[in-house]
Amino acid sequence: MFLNECPGVGKAENTKMPRKTKVKAGPSLFDSVAATEETDGPATDSLKDTTSTFADNLGLAVHRWFRYSAGFSAPWVREVIEREKAAGRSRIFDPFAGSGTVALEAERCQVESTGIEAHPFVARIAQAKLNWRAPPEAFTRYALSILASSRTEKVRRKEYPALMGKCFPPEILTQLEALRCAWKRKADDSPNSALSWLALCGILRECSPVGTAQWQYVLPSKSKARATNPFSAFEAKVRLFAADMTLLQNQQPGPQARLYADDARKCESVPDGWADLVITSPPYANNYDYADATRLEMTFFGEIEGWGCLQDTVRSHLVRSCTQHVSSLTKQMDTLLDAKVVEAISTELKTVCKEMATVRDTHRGKKNYHTMVAAYFKDMAEVWLALRRVTAKGSLVCFVVGDSAPYGIYVPVDRWLGELALAAGFKSFRFEKTRDRNIKWKNRKHRVPLHEGRLWVQG
Ligand SMILES: C[S@@+](CC[C@H](N)C(=O)[O-])C[C@H]1O[C@@H](n2cnc3c(N)ncnc32)[C@H](O)[C@@H]1O
Repeated sequence: MFLNECPGVGKAENTKMPRKTKVKAGPSLFDSVAATEETDGPATDSLKDTTSTFADNLGLAVHRWFRYSAGFSAPWVREVIEREKAAGRSRIFDPFAGSGTVALEAERCQVESTGIEAHPFVARIAQAKLNWRAPPEAFTRYALSILASSRTEKVRRKEYPALMGKCFPPEILTQLEALRCAWKRKADDSPNSALSWLALCGILRECSPVGTAQWQYVLPSKSKARATNPFSAFEAKVRLFAADMTLLQNQQPGPQARLYADDARKCESVPDGWADLVITSPPYANNYDYADATRLEMTFFGEIEGWGCLQDTVRSHLVRSCTQHVSSLTKQMDTLLDAKVVEAISTELKTVCKEMATVRDTHRGKKNYHTMVAAYFKDMAEVWLALRRVTAKGSLVCFVVGDSAPYGIYVPVDRWLGELALAAGFKSFRFEKTRDRNIKWKNRKHRVPLHEGRLWVQG
């Protein structure tokens, strides 16, 4: 059963984004921050590098099953794995696995891999994708039997969570609910059940006529030119899955990737010294709310009651990279800044956080960027310690990451992450810039030039 919106939590939708904001196809994660946030807006001025975007994956078997706006480029990941495999590295680890891009590419490149992802819903998406080895004909029969049952399903439900009502007209909602009920009735622990769940997740946004682009926000006041009928969309998705499964099964299968719901600050699922190559993209310190990114899907499946429930269900598991995450921490600033793990950067970190706290008082929104930045680096320092434990001597780590400038105050994210890596016991770091950002001063809340790229850390 769907749950109702949490009483009194308000904020059923985040309507902070203005109508004129363009949601561009295939944005980088870095571009995904709403332009109205006083952080870093869309990259109209970006270079062409697509390492940090999901755009490359939209045409790739299995990767394309769920469009995860925070995902990065599978072809680029493959290139790195192939190159490093030739150099003798064959145990790949992704501590921020997201939708499983590295896991899938490691399988394709015939190397062992482990991924961990702390967002429970996103981890489930990645785990579902790893079922591509299931027999495609049996999966198709299973999923089409769900479709057949849903066509005759008597949906008696009258009340839906507010977000559902805002995103779908009643007739579409009834069909989606019929599919959900039919899926649920058959649901078990099988790969076919997980794949059918993913197919249903994957059609929600295309069946909505409102602004549900793969974005952390849902925009009920915007409309799309075309919305697909749920039954046709589900059938098309199932057939796409089956075609991709057949395609990949005709290639030489690599070892099965492992993907766990786990926390990168501990990496408990990974043995000491196991990995020799880490390829990942951590959350950026740029106020992107990963919890909100799957609010539509989680609400549809009844996993949350509304926006207010995201804190306990999702955010509490994640690296603190958005202000929504830290409102209860403002009184703990000194503890965060004095933490031993951030000692290597603490002088600069304190200066930046102090400046942000001062500037905050002059802004209407009074966002707690200072707390977010302090908590972010404490979390990331713990990630480096965990990475040092799970990586072998001589390992190589690549973080796809960008810097940020909340309230126009520059945070040298890549350098600080590099310094924290050294403090955790890694040997050296260098940053390879792939794109400039915020250089044309268009629609900007601040004029600080920013960049994005690859932080290479040698262990
Ligand atoms: C930039 S995304 C990675 C996307 C991934 N490269 C892909 O292609 O799908 C960062 C991911 O880190 C996850 N995350 C945040 N905090 C985490 C933590 N403490 N441990 C593990 N994963 C975490 C987020 O949920 C998000 O999915």
